[in-house]
Amino acid sequence: MSENLKVDYSKTLNFISNADILAYKDAVKQNITTLYKGTGKGSDFLGWVNLPSSISANELNDIKATAKQLGELCEVVVVIGIGGSYLGAKAVIDALSDNFAQLKPRKNPLVIFAGQNISEDYLTELQSVLKTRKWGIIVISKSGTTTEPAIAFRVLKADCEAQFGKAESVKRIVAITDAKKGALRTLANQEGYKTYVIPDNVGGRFSVLTPVGLLPIAVAGFDIDQLVKGAADMEKSTTADIDFEKNPAAVYAATRNALYRKGKGIEITANYNPKLHYFAEWWKQLYGESEGKELKGIFPASVDFTSDLHSMGQYIQQGQRCLFETVISIDKPNSSLQISSDEKNLDGLNFLAGKHIDEVNKMAELGTILAHVDGGVPNIRVSIPQLNAYYLGQLIYFYEIACGISGYLLDVNPFDQPGVEAYKKNMFALLDKPGYEAESKAIKEKLK
Ligand code: PA5
Repeated sequence: MSENLKVDYSKTLNFISNADILAYKDAVKQNITTLYKGTGKGSDFLGWVNLPSSISANELNDIKATAKQLGELCEVVVVIGIGGSYLGAKAVIDALSDNFAQLKPRKNPLVIFAGQNISEDYLTELQSVLKTRKWGIIVISKSGTTTEPAIAFRVLKADCEAQFGKAESVKRIVAITDAKKGALRTLANQEGYKTYVIPDNVGGRFSVLTPVGLLPIAVAGFDIDQLVKGAADMEKSTTADIDFEKNPAAVYAATRNALYRKGKGIEITANYNPKLHYFAEWWKQLYGESEGKELKGIFPASVDFTSDLHSMGQYIQQGQRCLFETVISIDKPNSSLQISSDEKNLDGLNFLAGKHIDEVNKMAELGTILAHVDGGVPNIRVSIPQLNAYYLGQLIYFYEIACGISGYLLDVNPFDQPGVEAYKKNMFALLDKPGYEAESKAIKEKLK
């Protein structure tokens, strides 16, 4: 196995003790066993636990073949989905893409997203850029009934058919949904689209290593074999028989729960590389939807440093002391750039001459960690050797398994999301959806 992701919790020890963390040791081991045996809450949704090690080469090859076909037809592929049907692919593609990919020549289609909001401007502006391009669609919805992606697909499917014709559109549209249920399944079967199935036992936010994430990632030209390999290696490193101290997910889950017990109810995930912005969005969904229920849960927030040191930095340093911070750190950048010396030194930067930009970034990271710890914000540091598909795979599975362990430590069902229905009920009532007559009447009374 290659070098691994690491978790350093030493900068939490001014706030909690080693004993506080070790107090969770047996419960963590028990929770991993429960996840593997499927004897805990939400046991219908544990298909992700051994997903990395069970994906076959045939499945990966089929996904790569579909990605290639889309790539031959399209310069842009619009991925339609929301929540777990959006964030995993967006996180990985952004993390692995050149920051300025949109301005550079490309071998693979540009992957863009829709159906993750209900903005009229967003869809209209998207329609206008697609008109002059060769494009296709990957539409993703596990339930097949989610309003946001359904609206986007209705609009873009019509555009695709108008631009390329009905028969040609069938080659340009791939649907990823339930095996049998939902409007998207019915529609895909009737239209004859290529489809992939989201397994019943894998919930949306745990689905990035199914075709939901893997197909868009492969279309964008990234190495899904390495992504899955990284995740599979992390799966091996986080089983119940691994010593607590050597299991990064066990240590992370125990430490964050020990901090929560001491009143640190908000976890801020910080990165020092803008490519990780959407990785934090993925993490927020994973932890927010999994833990935030029954009036419990650590509130997940995120910042991009050093940018946000010039905005949120003030609050983190001196605001309410209910926070802890988890830094995702990348040991080595993928590029090399040194700061040059300047004869006049008018900007006073010659003290940095000869240093790599990343050395400055790392000192910003260390300086910030020390300042925040001094200011009362405990710090967990999660590091990976490099930002590539393999280590992203490790990071994904690390956070997934730690989420399952952590949710069970909080004694909630980490695999449901009953609270998400409340806004939908109100929205449907306000829009007079058939079947919501009583709710419509009640909500309109409330608004009088
Ligand atoms: O994690 C989840 O289950 C949710 O965020 C869903 O992924 C999201 O609501 C989209 O659902 P669907 O894939 O059914 O359209």
